Amino acid sequence: MKITDLQIPEAVKELITKSGIIELYPPQEEAIKTGVLDGKNLVLASPTASGKTLIAELCALKHILERNHKVIYLTPLRALASEKFDEFKKYTAITKTDGRRIRVGISTGDFDSADPWLERNDVIITTNEKADSLLRHRAKWVDDVSLVIADEIHLLNDAERGPTLEVTLARLMQTSPDLQILALSATINNVDEIAAWLKAEQVTTEWRPVPLREGVLQHDEIQYKDGDARRIEKKTKDPATNLVLSTINSGGQVLVFASTRKSAVALAKKFAGEIEGVLSKPARRSLEHDAEQVLASDEKTRISETLAELVKRGTAFHHAGLGSRHRRIVEESFRQGKIKVLTATPTLAFGVNLPAKTVVIQDYRRYEAGYGYYPISVLEYKQMAGRAGRPKYDKCGEAVLIAKTADEADYLLESYIFARPERIWSRLAVERIMRSHVLATIAADFAHTETGIYEFFGKTFYAQQYDVDAIKGLISKILNYLSYEEMIEVLGDNIVATRLGKRVSELYIDPVSSVVIRDSLRNNISHVTDLSLLHMISHTPDMGPILRPYTQELGELTAFMEEHKQEFLVDVPDEFQDSVSYEQFLGEVKTARTLQAWIEEASEEQVIDKFGVQPGDLYRMIENAKWLLHATHELTPLFGNRQVLPQTSELTERMEKGVKKELLPLIKLEGIGRTRGRIIYNAGYKTIEDVKHAPVEALTNLPLIGQKLAKRIKEQVGGFVKKDSWEKLDREDWKQKALTEY
Ligand SMILES: Nc1ncnc2c1ncn2[C@@H]1O[C@H](COP(=O)(O)OP(=O)(O)OP(=O)(O)O)[C@@H](O)[C@H]1O
Ligand SMILES: [Mg+2]
Repeated sequence: MKITDLQIPEAVKELITKSGIIELYPPQEEAIKTGVLDGKNLVLASPTASGKTLIAELCALKHILERNHKVIYLTPLRALASEKFDEFKKYTAITKTDGRRIRVGISTGDFDSADPWLERNDVIITTNEKADSLLRHRAKWVDDVSLVIADEIHLLNDAERGPTLEVTLARLMQTSPDLQILALSATINNVDEIAAWLKAEQVTTEWRPVPLREGVLQHDEIQYKDGDARRIEKKTKDPATNLVLSTINSGGQVLVFASTRKSAVALAKKFAGEIEGVLSKPARRSLEHDAEQVLASDEKTRISETLAELVKRGTAFHHAGLGSRHRRIVEESFRQGKIKVLTATPTLAFGVNLPAKTVVIQDYRRYEAGYGYYPISVLEYKQMAGRAGRPKYDKCGEAVLIAKTADEADYLLESYIFARPERIWSRLAVERIMRSHVLATIAADFAHTETGIYEFFGKTFYAQQYDVDAIKGLISKILNYLSYEEMIEVLGDNIVATRLGKRVSELYIDPVSSVVIRDSLRNNISHVTDLSLLHMISHTPDMGPILRPYTQELGELTAFMEEHKQEFLVDVPDEFQDSVSYEQFLGEVKTARTLQAWIEEASEEQVIDKFGVQPGDLYRMIENAKWLLHATHELTPLFGNRQVLPQTSELTERMEKGVKKELLPLIKLEGIGRTRGRIIYNAGYKTIEDVKHAPVEALTNLPLIGQKLAKRIKEQVGGFVKKDSWEKLDREDWKQKALTEY
């Protein structure tokens, strides 16, 4: 079937064929035959790289152009959301019947907002969490949505992301019964259950456009699924390095999956040493440029220096410890064929299109504290393997597991390469997770009676697989808790959310976090310091994994705790009677101190060195801290406590920018962050008024400011500037622009 044969608007056909897609792939054809373009629900379960997104795009355009409705595209990860955003952007060239161009929006952050500005978009790409929070805020534009696309729906199986996805879909089905749902999935064993849940047709295929050869490398030979074998030239002692070299020598690129961040970095270093000699001179020059970009974006830290050093040598690593800008540079450079080997943790396993001719799965075991080592699932293996051989980039792909012995090779062939992916199971029935969803169900008016709540949870994937009766006990326990903590009120059969309950649900925090905030501030109001609040938010379950103290830090940390004992709003557990809670407490204090160092203007490098965190973790902690401080600010008045409000609002701002209080006025200026703000302040310009009266030349001469920024500052603050100075700035600005455009 050709694109031109489809029942879709001409402009869409034109755009797609222009992008090089002429003929539908067989799974796409099957999908079309189910009537998905006419509004039928569908679960499309098809191997990696089989073009599932195109079906989503076609459906989306039908809804937008023919019905003038909106589309939500749900992804499990921010990185995938931005890739899909880039893909959908090409359709903004198309004009709708109302004369306006199609608009595409992305929203993945700030959970306490209905994002009314999203209203103007036709396609809204979001993460599952953001969609859940938008529904809690009852965002008005959701009523105009007539199609929901759930990408990577097999992640229902993921303990963290799965429950949010199923609750979000259940809510959407409840609020808009006419909604069309298109779920995209990897091939899994129980597609029928998902299809039954979503009242959808199903298409399951094993077809892949680009052949993917799966094999196991042992010593110098790869044994493939089809019985074939291939010898790899033995240039070094390490089999994986030899495979990397062989792919690069044949003009390909390699993606290596490691099980931990540490091993991703170590592997990148190992490969860099070996492939350096293979790079041509022009390739090196262009890599040097990318390395400079790594150093120029974000603050310089040891991790960015290591990364830049590796990029110069045609290698890089990619994991959640890297800042998002660095991740993007690395992805882009790999896409452009400059970086030859990319090592990654499973963060890159889902959905992304990368030019990896060979994927190496270095380690099929994963370590989890408390559990020890366990083998990854077949589903995860297939997702990682599926990053190889993507149609845009390669004619064939190869995915290779590494074995040390013949026995291990047999085990890997059997357990992964010949194995079928597992069934997926709902992960909803966990108290910590259900707590927040039960409250939201009441607070956002999805149900008002106990029966109504069961009915709602009866629409989840959990109920499809088990029976809602199985979680009735859990739900009723949660209702008791919420009622005891005054987040809901039970009046006869009727259950309503209190103001507190509503706000907690909208703020997208665990009800337990709000109880921590309430109890902390209720009892100890007299001596609230920055440390008090930073520790309090670190004590909530929403702070996420707290930092674990290293043995050598324990002495200093304990001394610090003693010294600041008065400031903690939560009782310090007894070291001997409850050593687990005590250790947890130490971790919270360490987390609080890390955040404090950030707002006291320690450089990223200093924070990273002193507390042993990585930039990506630091950014995550800062994000969470900002969100929890905002939540504290919003909730305390409901607890009858307004005293801390000035402090919480100031801390939220300081957390966002990483500055001391005195810098707050200056960093409101556009283009001024913590580093430049400090330079201006230390030069004696401490307020906006000072900056207004500063001679332009004085600003221009400050380090890191320069002509262009000085001009922008002056434009913002106003004040008197001599005509000659201004003209000179204008000339320089113009010259700069001309140069960059050239
Ligand atoms: N009919 C087609 N002809 C040529 N190329 C196509 C066609 N359909 C899709 N593609 C291309 O195939 C590539 C892979 O598509 P896509 O990302 O949708 O795969 P997927 O099925 O979602 O895989 P994954 O499970 O890994 O997410 C994209 O680069 C896309 O542009
Ligand atoms: Mg996909």
